[in-house]
Amino acid sequence: MSEWKTFFDNFAPNYMQEVFTQNTLAEVDFLIEELQLAPGCTILDMGCGTGRHSVELARRGYRVTGVDLSSGMLAEAEKAAQAAGVQVEWVQADATQYRSPKLFDAAICLCEGAFGLVSVSEDAEAHDRLILRNISAALKPGAPFLLTALNGLRLIRQFTQDDVEKGIFDPLTLVETSSMDYDTPQGTQSVTLHEKTRLPGELAGICRDAGLEVLHIWGGTAGSWQRQTLNLDEIEVMLVARKELK
Ligand SMILES: C[S@@+](CC[C@H](N)C(=O)[O-])C[C@H]1O[C@@H](n2cnc3c(N)ncnc32)[C@H](O)[C@@H]1O
Repeated sequence: MSEWKTFFDNFAPNYMQEVFTQNTLAEVDFLIEELQLAPGCTILDMGCGTGRHSVELARRGYRVTGVDLSSGMLAEAEKAAQAAGVQVEWVQADATQYRSPKLFDAAICLCEGAFGLVSVSEDAEAHDRLILRNISAALKPGAPFLLTALNGLRLIRQFTQDDVEKGIFDPLTLVETSSMDYDTPQGTQSVTLHEKTRLPGELAGICRDAGLEVLHIWGGTAGSWQRQTLNLDEIEVMLVARKELK
């Protein structure tokens, strides 16, 4: 089983207490404006987690499908949908394998919604490319897409050669390895996790390879999304694209 599934299944009940989840309403305002979402359009939320964007978009009249690997996160998402009195289609699936049976008007993949969250047994490059391929395949021609991904520039600036020697940061793949703790009814557990970070230019390249025309790259710090130049030390980078018209 994916260590990310294990981690998020256990983390799910506490996820919405994280600082970076506190500004969802403003993030959804930004998404609607930036992607020019037409009223009532269909949206794919890849790696939807607890559904914080899906539920708010549904509350505003959009028809949303949220895909996630973690049953724990999806259970929280359904609770949130019920509390808001909205319906969202939840699909438990691995984003690297998910092939949508229908085409969407727009897609989002936010705060590392599967993208960059790699299992030890996976090829990090192939992992992300598969996710982009599946999102692209699920979009109507010209449909907008917004992604936030981990910013590799920050790690290059912050990690030292010593970190490389310790195996914390791989300079060839820009993958960071860390150990994260999570609470379970049996006590605190620890899991080793791998996160693939991206340079803005290569992010644009793999999107283009997946049939997505890149429109903008902005700074992507969760909670304060706007049309702003990427700061080198930001945790995340934002990419705005649209499915090729051909
Ligand atoms: C940091 S959360 C982001 C959730 C949400 N997009 C947000 O902005 O709050 C990452 C999510 O990606 C999901 N995830 C990780 N690997 C995945 C995969 N291979 N396929 C689908 N979901 C995955 C996790 O279960 C988790 O819910």
